Amino acid sequence: MSHIQTMPLITRRVDFTFHDVHATWLADSIKTQFMQALSLFIPSSERTVIEILRTHQIQINDANIHILITELIKQEGQHAVMHRRANQAILHRHPELKWIITLQTKFMALVQKSSSPAFRLAIPVAFEHITAAISKDVLAHKEYWLGDQVKPNSASNFLLWHCLEELEHQSICHVIYKKAYPHSLTNNARIILSLLCIWLPVTVLSIFPVQLYLLIKDKTLINPRNWLPFIGFVGRTLKLFFKGGFRYRKKRETIWPRDEITLYQAACQDFNTRQNSSDT
Ligand SMILES: [Fe+2]
Ligand SMILES: [Fe+2]
Repeated sequence: MSHIQTMPLITRRVDFTFHDVHATWLADSIKTQFMQALSLFIPSSERTVIEILRTHQIQINDANIHILITELIKQEGQHAVMHRRANQAILHRHPELKWIITLQTKFMALVQKSSSPAFRLAIPVAFEHITAAISKDVLAHKEYWLGDQVKPNSASNFLLWHCLEELEHQSICHVIYKKAYPHSLTNNARIILSLLCIWLPVTVLSIFPVQLYLLIKDKTLINPRNWLPFIGFVGRTLKLFFKGGFRYRKKRETIWPRDEITLYQAACQDFNTRQNSSDT
């Protein structure tokens, strides 16, 4: 049985509703529409992660890994349920975007079907890289993303909860992958290849055109003053996505550096405070 150093994965019971959320629920519409475009993409990607991990859970003979997979599936399952709920509110405003979700789901199924088992297990690692990058940035730069919200809204609370749990399990799929395919140059290269050549381009193509469309629809980009901030946001986010893409070539890595532990602890505390204030 392997001894694995990760954070304990906690299943936090949440129940967010989105019917009374304002059209712009983050610092500005550029960030709001980015998160909405990302939300449309999440249920299909999280379902893919769950399906792949479930298949490998049967094959990996390690009790600790089994527990990790079960706990990760519990977290991702609840994320997908909440995102589906959030997406209903988005699709209520933009029913024309339904086909995007169908297309993403079909694409995920096709890639899963046509990949080798090793390549399939590299998919959750790639998704984990992307979600951890965004989550860490949101938690570390709350003012940039959320603005100076006097009263937190349920959509931003939902975002912070998801970011916290993504940070919590940021390294798990990589641990599982390493267990199934112990270190070799080919195995590490597979992750880098899958991340840089497939999943980062797919994510970029799935999110930014939808964000652009939503920003035209809500008239943000009709105003030329918003063009530069939008370009700046896209550049900043692309940098986040691609940062650390080559770190998987290393034999060993410190998954939880000190600053990330501090960020995680602060996020846990913030989550508890927000939960308590919404309960009262
Ligand atoms: Fe998630
Ligand atoms: Fe995740």
